[in-house]
Amino acid sequence: MKSLIILVSYHHNNTQKIAEVIAKGINAEIKTPQQINLEELNQYDIVGFGSGIYFWKHHKDLLELAEKLPQQINKKAFIFSTSANTENAPKFHSLLREKLQLKGYTIVDEFNCAGFNSWGPLKLVGGTKKDRPNSDDLKHAEEFALKLKQST
Ligand SMILES: Cc1cc2nc3c(=O)[nH]c(=O)nc-3n(C[C@H](O)[C@H](O)[C@H](O)COP(=O)(O)O)c2cc1C
Repeated sequence: MKSLIILVSYHHNNTQKIAEVIAKGINAEIKTPQQINLEELNQYDIVGFGSGIYFWKHHKDLLELAEKLPQQINKKAFIFSTSANTENAPKFHSLLREKLQLKGYTIVDEFNCAGFNSWGPLKLVGGTKKDRPNSDDLKHAEEFALKLKQST
C-alpha cells in the first residue's frame, strides 16, 4: 500500500505530531499542499489530509488543494485534525469531507484530538488544551493507523 499524507500544521505543530505517528504506522510520506504535484497522486493507494482547525474548518491551503484535485474513481482517503474543541470535530471536517467526496474520494476513516491553542486573547491566559496532543492522543493515533492498515 503506497500512502501519502498531505499536512498543514503551523500553530504549535500539534497536527504534525499526529501526522508523524500515522505516517510511521502506514509507512506514508508527508508533504505540504505546496509540495504536491497533482499527477503524482495517482501512484498512491490512500491519501490522508490533515491540519489544525482554524475558524471551524481545515487550513485553507488544504481546502484549496482539494478543489484542484483531479477527479478520481473511489480513491481511498482519510481526514484528520487537531483542535481546541473536539466535540465538533465531525462538523469541522465536513467541508473538506464534502470537497473530497465530490472528487470521487471515499473517506475510509477520520481522526481528531485536542491540540494546544493559544490563539488571540487565549494567549493572555496561557492558552487552552495545554500539553495536547499527549501520550494518550499519540496512542490513539497509532491505533487509528493500525486500523487504516488493516482496512486497506
Ligand atoms: C487562527 C486560529 C483559529 C482557530 N480556530 C479554531 C476553531 O475554530 N475551533 C477549534 O476548536 N480550535 C481552533 N483553533 C485551535 C487549533 O485548531 C489548535 O490549536 C490546533 O491544534 C492547531 O494545530 P497546529 O498546531 O497543527 O497548527 C484555532 C487556532 C488558530 C491559531
